[in-house]
Amino acid sequence: MKAYQYDKSFALYDRAEKVVPCGLYGHLGVGRARLNPMGCYPLFADRAEGTYIWDADGNRFIDYACAYGPNVLGYQDSDVEEAALTQQKKGNCTTVVSPVMIECAEELVKTVDSADWAFFAKNGGDVTTLAIMTARHATGRKRIIMMKHGYHGVTQWCQKPGTPGVMNEDVCWNLYADFNDYEGLKKLVERYSGEIAGIISMPYNHISHYDNVMPEDDYWKKVRKLCDENGILLIIDDVRAGFRMDIAGSDHYFGIKADMLTLGKAIANGWNMSALVGQKKWKSAVEDMNYTGSYWLSAVPLAASVATLRKMKEINAVKIMRDTGDELLKGLKEVADVNGVRLSATGLSSLFKIILKDPNESLIPHQEWVGEMVRRGVYISHFHNMFTNTMITKEDLQYTFDAADEALKIIIKKYPEILVK
Ligand SMILES: Cc1ncc(COP(=O)(O)O)c(C=O)c1O
Repeated sequence: MKAYQYDKSFALYDRAEKVVPCGLYGHLGVGRARLNPMGCYPLFADRAEGTYIWDADGNRFIDYACAYGPNVLGYQDSDVEEAALTQQKKGNCTTVVSPVMIECAEELVKTVDSADWAFFAKNGGDVTTLAIMTARHATGRKRIIMMKHGYHGVTQWCQKPGTPGVMNEDVCWNLYADFNDYEGLKKLVERYSGEIAGIISMPYNHISHYDNVMPEDDYWKKVRKLCDENGILLIIDDVRAGFRMDIAGSDHYFGIKADMLTLGKAIANGWNMSALVGQKKWKSAVEDMNYTGSYWLSAVPLAASVATLRKMKEINAVKIMRDTGDELLKGLKEVADVNGVRLSATGLSSLFKIILKDPNESLIPHQEWVGEMVRRGVYISHFHNMFTNTMITKEDLQYTFDAADEALKIIIKKYPEILVK
C-alpha cells in the first residue's frame, strides 16, 4: 500500500491558522498530541459517503471515527438525506415550530425505554447541562457526583478544575467517584447525605487514552437502588454510546431505568441535534427551566432524526454494528497474534477501544501503528474510542486487516521490544 501524502491538507491548515484560533481546535485539532505522529492524519475533508471520507488531497479512508459518533447509518444515507431535503424545502429555522418536533419526540418515547418526554437541543453538552440543572431544581440540592475521567461536554460545570476560564465556583459542587467502585460511591453518598442532586455517568467507562471498562454485573442495579433510597436522580450520559449498545437506551441494556438520559451524536446520523429524555415524574421540573437556543427546534435535523430512528429500528442497526465490530476486533487481534504482539480491545464492539501494548507501557508504538494505518486509508484515532456503522463491508474489514498488518510490521521493526517474549 502506498502511504498517503497530505500537501493540500497542510496548505489549508496554514490558511486556517491565520484566521481561526489554533487553526483547528478541540478533538479535531492538532493540539495536545491528538494527531500524533504529526503528518499521519489528514486535516481537512472534501466529502464523505457511506463509511468513507475523502480528504482534501483526494485520499480515501475507511472511517472508524464516524465523526466521533454521529455516523451510524453511513454518511449521506439516502433515507435520512431525503427526509432532511423534503423538510428543507418546506422550511428549517422558522418563527413557528414544525410539527416534526412532536413526531420526533413521539418516536423517541416509543423507542427509548426511560423516555416519557423529549427536550431537544443541539449538542450533547446542552443536554447534560440541562439534566444537571433539572436535578438541582427537582431536589433543591447542589452537589453532583460524576465519574473521574467522565466526559460530559465543555460547559464550565463539567470541565476539569484548573482549566483556563473555569472558576473554582463553577466546579465546587462536583464530587468525583471511580467508575465501578460501588462501595466508594456509597460512602460518598453517605458522607454528603441529603446534599446530592444527581449522579451523572456514562453507561460504561469509554474514556480516552485508556482501556475501556464495562460495569460489573450488578453495578448499575445497585447504583439505581442507592439513588432511589437517597432521593438522587440517576442521569445516564448516552451521548456517545446511545443507539450503539441498545436502541432502547444503554440503561435498558444494563437492566435499569435512568431518571434522565442524554442523547446526541447517532440520534440524527450527523444532523446537528441532541435530546434530553426522561421519566414522567421529572417533566414538570424541566418545564420550569429557562433553557433554549435559536436553532434548537430547527425542523431539518428533527426530520433527519425521525428518519434515522426509524431506519435504525427497521434494519436492526445495533446488531449490524455489533456483529461488524466483533468481526473487526477478532481480525485485528489475529493480526496482532500472527505478528507476535499484544493488542487490547475493550468496550463494546460497536464502540471499541484498541491499544497496541508495549511491555514498557509506552503509548508511542501504539500511536505510530495507528498513524501508519491512517496513512494507508484506515482512519482510527489513537486516543479516542472508535465506532462501527452499518455500512462497513467485508471488503472494508479485509482492507483494514491488510493495512493493520503492513503498519504493524513497520512498527515491530522500529520497536522490537513490543514483541511478546
Ligand atoms: C459521553 C459524552 N457526553 C457529552 C458529550 C458532549 O457532546 P457534544 O460534543 O455534542 O457537546 C460527549 C461528546 O463527545 C460525550 O462523548
